[in-house]
Amino acid sequence: MTTAALKNPFTPEQMKELERWTKEYPYPIMGLLEALRSVQHWHLCVTPDDEAVVAGIFKTTRMRVHELVTFFPMFTQTPTGRRRLGVCHGLSCAMAGAKDVCKTLEKRLGVEEGETTKDGEFSWEELECIGACDYAPAIQVNDELQGKATAEKLDAVLE
Ligand code: FES
Repeated sequence: MTTAALKNPFTPEQMKELERWTKEYPYPIMGLLEALRSVQHWHLCVTPDDEAVVAGIFKTTRMRVHELVTFFPMFTQTPTGRRRLGVCHGLSCAMAGAKDVCKTLEKRLGVEEGETTKDGEFSWEELECIGACDYAPAIQVNDELQGKATAEKLDAVLE
């Protein structure tokens, strides 16, 4: 993509928020991950245009930003659902039935892991251990731990 084709995808308020992250830590670049978390929250993904603008704000290369976006699973390059469900498939959760939870989500939402429903409401993905082994099989919705994935809890989440 050329610079001429770049379209700023952020509102003035969002630009202020991104710039604020350059001042939160001793070195501006230390705020980059937090800025990208904000972008993921606003756009439900981080697009090439997002990467380019963020790179400019943090005075770094787009490649460096892209490396972070593709390394950390919390960032996606295509939009997630507004409700992003995560199913832990670590050992404790696998033994407690995480596969059944995944099959239930696939059937009820009609999309495979990593896909988003047509209305943009839901997406689901498998996660590594999220540190809630006592609640196996553990699920989270957006960034919030929902604990044990009982049938009732899944119903409530999907309503
Ligand atoms: S294995 Fe699922 S939370 Fe630890």
